[in-house]
Amino acid sequence: MAPPALGNKAETANTKNSGNMEKITETEKAAKPTETKKTKKTAFQVGLIREAFHYQSRFQGSAMVFKIDFPVTQDPGFSYLMKDLALLVRTGFKVVVVPGAKERIDAVLGEYGIASQYAGTTRITTAGAMPFVEMAAFDVATRFITGLSADRIDAVIGNFVRARGLGVIGGLDMEHTGAVDRILTGPIERILRLGMTPILPCIGWSRAGKPYNVPSDEIALAASAALGAAKLVILSAREGFGFDGEMKGGQYGIPESAEAHKKGGRLTPREAARILEGGGAGGRFFEELGLALRASRSGVERTHIIDGREEGAVLRELFSNLGAGVMVYADEYESIRPLKSADIPVILRLIEPLAARGNLVRRSWEDIREKKGDYVVFEIDGSVHACAALHHWGEGQGEIAALAADPAYTGLGLGRRLVRYLIDRASAQSMSRVFVLTTRTHDWFEFLGFKEASIESLPERKRRQYDHRRKSKLFVLDLPLPAHGSRPDADAPPPAF
Ligand SMILES: CC(C)(COP(=O)(O)OP(=O)(O)OC[C@H]1O[C@@H](n2cnc3c(N)ncnc32)[C@H](O)[C@@H]1OP(=O)(O)O)[C@@H](O)C(=O)NCCC(=O)NCCS
Repeated sequence: MAPPALGNKAETANTKNSGNMEKITETEKAAKPTETKKTKKTAFQVGLIREAFHYQSRFQGSAMVFKIDFPVTQDPGFSYLMKDLALLVRTGFKVVVVPGAKERIDAVLGEYGIASQYAGTTRITTAGAMPFVEMAAFDVATRFITGLSADRIDAVIGNFVRARGLGVIGGLDMEHTGAVDRILTGPIERILRLGMTPILPCIGWSRAGKPYNVPSDEIALAASAALGAAKLVILSAREGFGFDGEMKGGQYGIPESAEAHKKGGRLTPREAARILEGGGAGGRFFEELGLALRASRSGVERTHIIDGREEGAVLRELFSNLGAGVMVYADEYESIRPLKSADIPVILRLIEPLAARGNLVRRSWEDIREKKGDYVVFEIDGSVHACAALHHWGEGQGEIAALAADPAYTGLGLGRRLVRYLIDRASAQSMSRVFVLTTRTHDWFEFLGFKEASIESLPERKRRQYDHRRKSKLFVLDLPLPAHGSRPDADAPPPAF
């Protein structure tokens, strides 16, 4: 006997209990969205893991300086922050801690009835107050030792800062108030090599061993620059601040129009400077932004300003594109700007000798003038030292052309950065491919990830103009589709280089 058809069985069951059938149908209906939600969640998690690995491999072995304000140490979440720092140390990052102690110094001086005098915003640390300032500074530093001990990380509080006194300013003796003379990188690096965490309290010593009270912001800045830190991370305690899908900086004077709102809390030094010049609300955030700007000018690639009390904010900011705070990053494109009419003679002078040698096609003043908007120049200290253009030929293709670097400035990455910039521009204009026609520079473009292609793949309009006597080779780079949905990634390299 043939087995009963499944359909029949189901039919029988359903006829027996129509209420059940309804249930089954509803479950089936519900199954799909749940699955989609689950798939989305999995994709999101996988994305996060990938991002974390990407940032981990990029920054592993780099020094990171953490300037942590005192109120953060008093927050119940401080132990979680210490766990996250411990995780960074174990993962191979060189963590350096600079504790801020201002509020603790205020409290200790208050307890002992010592009033502070100020010169502007700078505390004048008298000889009488200095022992109490040292006590407060080391008390705060010890809290970090305690926090890190709980996570079995070895840490060392040390005399890593050589200081000098501020002396007499405007008739006011600044006594034991000092500035950073030098960061003693030798001992710090030795400690880091041992896998330990150096802690730099806000005290520095002169050559003769005299102690000075030095602002921890200054120590963090000098240490980041001296250690060639990849990051300076400023952790402060401020409600509702940073980037959480959208910028939350209104009350700190970040204008609505600021690029940071569009770019997930990321600011170039120029944008940061513009915000500071705008005045805004001022206050501690502006001090931190100013510190970040100075750090970027002294060569620190990235400074992050984060609410240190938010659990996991450090990991979120450092290891994902989601971000958690405000980042000021060195913008390698800052020296690149559109061509101005006044630059045309300069770039004609750059191109001419290269055209004479056959490296480049000769261009006239009119040629350049006509396509002025396609050109960009690389400016150093007010003078143009390289140029390039991106011509759109239709069919989703753009040509990188007229690329020339001043011979006195070759090998400094100007050419590479111009090409990268134009690739970004092509992507922003939704082009799917950039190409170059080259007679002598194919190796260089190949190194940048371009691949040789047939002249037949040129856009129709360009193919008709191809100079068969010149016999330039065609090299192309296909552009990926722009990613959506997360904070733009300042760290991810563009395709191929
Ligand atoms: C090609 C050019 C723009 C590169 O500019 P740049 O600012 O020196 O570029 P980068 O600093 O980014 O790169 C320099 C590296 O490329 C190498 N390089 C330069 N020209 C090269 C070439 N034709 N073939 C292979 N490698 C080359 C340099 O040796 C240097 O290598 P290194 O980093 O190992 O020392 C510049 O050399 C130039 O103006 N060349 C003449 C004009 C030209 O050929 N333009 C392209 C027309 S399609």
